[in-house]
Amino acid sequence: RIWKANMELPRVLWPAFVAIFVTVVSIMMARRRTMFSQKTKRSPPSPPVAAGVPLLGVLPALLAKGPLHVIRDAHTEMGSVFTVRLLHRKVTFLVGSEVSSHFYQGLESEISQDEVSQFTTPTFGPGVAFDVDFTTRREQFRFFGDAMKPAKLREVEVVNNKMEYFARWGQSGTVDLKQELEQLVTLVASRCLFGEEVRAKMLVEVATHLRELNDGMRLVTILFPHLPIPAHRRRDRARARLGEIFSNIVSARKASYPNSSRHVVDDMLQCLVDSRYKDGRATTETEVVGMLVSALFAGQHTSSSTGTWTGARLLARANAKQLCAAVQEQERILARHGNRLDYEVLQEMDTLHRCVKEVLRLHPPAMMLLRHARQSFTVRTSEGDEYEVPEGRTVASPLVIHNRLPHVFRDPEKYEPDRFGPGIGEDIAGGAFSYTAFGGGRHACIGEAFAYMQIKVIWSHLLRNFEMEMVSPFPETDWNVVMPGPKGKVMVRYNRKRMSAAA
Ligand code: HEM
Repeated sequence: RIWKANMELPRVLWPAFVAIFVTVVSIMMARRRTMFSQKTKRSPPSPPVAAGVPLLGVLPALLAKGPLHVIRDAHTEMGSVFTVRLLHRKVTFLVGSEVSSHFYQGLESEISQDEVSQFTTPTFGPGVAFDVDFTTRREQFRFFGDAMKPAKLREVEVVNNKMEYFARWGQSGTVDLKQELEQLVTLVASRCLFGEEVRAKMLVEVATHLRELNDGMRLVTILFPHLPIPAHRRRDRARARLGEIFSNIVSARKASYPNSSRHVVDDMLQCLVDSRYKDGRATTETEVVGMLVSALFAGQHTSSSTGTWTGARLLARANAKQLCAAVQEQERILARHGNRLDYEVLQEMDTLHRCVKEVLRLHPPAMMLLRHARQSFTVRTSEGDEYEVPEGRTVASPLVIHNRLPHVFRDPEKYEPDRFGPGIGEDIAGGAFSYTAFGGGRHACIGEAFAYMQIKVIWSHLLRNFEMEMVSPFPETDWNVVMPGPKGKVMVRYNRKRMSAAA
């Protein structure tokens, strides 16, 4: 009976064995089917390409209409992902937050700045920025970041002290606001960077050379950084002269303070001289000079053109209401705090903050940001279309279009600071990367807080002390350069006023 029972056992298990066998075989077949369909699934198409002339691509349209119109037309025609051919290079544009996350957040090994930023080396000089590898560059940015920490620079006080610049203005008069702010911002940046070493007589020279550096970074520079055109020759002369001026300052400083002296001298120069790479290596003189030029370049033109646009917008007749709100805010703050101006007081200037933020939306100093796709990647538009951006492609985020999308910013062409809500830091409903004046993600600007602080200190001073009127037409934008600013002079008539602290 025992033997019979043993013989019965397999008969009982038989259906179970069959069930398991059938399940395993069907799982294996299903997996093979999935793998096969994955292999044969077609990858999404490449982005559509804008019409252009053979060999030249969009170059003729670019020369005739300027970059803003070319990109805007292509965007209107083809949607948020499209490719533009410019001579030998194809550039894929990604417009809007839905398709931009990889651009801003992708790893360096996937999407990088290096290959598309070599054109900046004649401007920044050797040993820094895109002349060095990624790791060294990150370390140099860390030196910047450390050097800019507010406690170290007592920034607001330093910047506010420099408002004495306006003492040279008379009781009333007419000035070119653009030139005035260019010089003032250079003065402030030089003081923060070098202490008092850049004397007044050098100031105009440094400001002029910085303008020549910006003017020498043209759209053609991206493709041909060494093309022998006058703007490039002026750029090279300006860089050489700035190198000389700053080298003298660095060697004089090193001679005066041979040992680490941050406790004696509290400016950025000393921080950069004293900085050490992770392997313990000290910064060289060439690197310090390059970092100084880069810091000035990154912060000077961006801030002075934002300051000028703020004036142009607030002083435009159509924006009398916004001007009035900004003046009233200064009166309230003056009544509450008297002439005290520090970080806390600046935080209360949310009307002014929004005025500047809205200026940066409409006039971002960086027209577009560039990357190089080290690996192909797929983007999906809000309409559900998918495109594969191929490996090796230049990719662009056009801030000028990005910040004027009607589904994110209602009535986008209108200067409307109140769209940003009642408090500083409140944001528009458009998702991450819908407001990108300072970039975002991995390469977000490290100077944003400093830039706002500086522009707010300047405009707080101007609104408190002067009645102003713009007497030239609202400025056009100079689209010829990579960092476009107001074109020509921005003439402003002023009358000095006295605002009472008890007002
Ligand atoms: C209104 C003023 C400014 C604007 C609009 C501005 C804008 C930007 C933008 C759009 C980027 C991103 C670049 C990219 O993703 O390719 C950036 C990066 C950067 N900015 Fe600014 N900037 C301003 C002021 C400053 C100042 C005052 C400094 C200080 C020296 C500064 C230092 C930098 C640095 C070092 C980076 C590179 C960050 C990185 O790659 O990790 N910027 N800025």
